[in-house]
Amino acid sequence: MKSVRRRWTWTSTAQVFEARMEMLAGRRTHVDRALQSPGDAREEKEAMLKPDFEREGVKLYLGDCRDVLPHLEGVDAVVTDPPYEITAAGGGIGATRKDLNATEGFTDCGFDYSILDRFDCWVCFGTLRQVPRLIEKAGDRRWMLVTWNKQNPCPLVNGNYLPDTEYIIHAWRKGRLYGGFEDKARYIVHPLGDKEHGEHPNEKPMKVMRKMVNLASDTGHTVLDPFMGSGTTGVACIRTGRKFIGIEKEPKYFDIAVARVKEEFERLRMFQPVAAEVQAELFGANE
Ligand SMILES: C[S@@+](CC[C@H](N)C(=O)[O-])C[C@H]1O[C@@H](n2cnc3c(N)ncnc32)[C@H](O)[C@@H]1O
Repeated sequence: MKSVRRRWTWTSTAQVFEARMEMLAGRRTHVDRALQSPGDAREEKEAMLKPDFEREGVKLYLGDCRDVLPHLEGVDAVVTDPPYEITAAGGGIGATRKDLNATEGFTDCGFDYSILDRFDCWVCFGTLRQVPRLIEKAGDRRWMLVTWNKQNPCPLVNGNYLPDTEYIIHAWRKGRLYGGFEDKARYIVHPLGDKEHGEHPNEKPMKVMRKMVNLASDTGHTVLDPFMGSGTTGVACIRTGRKFIGIEKEPKYFDIAVARVKEEFERLRMFQPVAAEVQAELFGANE
């Protein structure tokens, strides 16, 4: 396993500031607002809790989840697809896979598993290499290994098994398994590349994300995705009646997530039953 990046503490203000400026290239976020009031813990916390986007039960933060997570409360379940640990070691075409670099480094850096500790219920996507670590993290929670099986994997065999399976660990301590009969299957068969939006290199299929949201939470619950990317988990939550908190550190993916959430609310609004007086006006009953 590659080493996990050093964890910042909220007190290392200068360090956070420097990195934030570098990363966001001038974008002002809740973190920047918090930095304007160093020293006053209450103001800092308030600023950290103020999302960069908020609408109808959805709160989105542009920033590093390690800064935001300590301030969040009221999360019922985490459903997340964190940066994978991918190695291109070995011979054959896999050794020179350019796409690992093309994703700007975040796909192969792994993540700090300890962020899962404080949550009773979590769903975490990972590679086979990450599964033992995630099962260990489940600790005294009940857990299940769910697989996403792809019928159209990359033909990177090189004497090995096909890369046709992604692994999902669902661990829960409180609550129960939610979802319907079909959701409760331990696998889902769905093709690779089925992206609703398409600009994030690791966008997950909606069908896969929706299954996991259904299993981990009930209608009205608050679901958190600390590595939300282009916001697939958020859209799945809106479609299934959950509240959502999402965190993403890359501005371009954050912006996509905001756009997708807005679009989803617009779509919902279009299908709302039209009030009787509006109908009457539209169809001329008052004339
Ligand atoms: C595998 S992608 C998630 C893709 C997402 N499931 C989707 O469908 O679009 C992981 C995301 O985590 C983000 N990320 C990595 N480290 C982060 C951190 N410390 N805080 C917040 N976001 C982070 C990356 O920028 C990337 O967009």
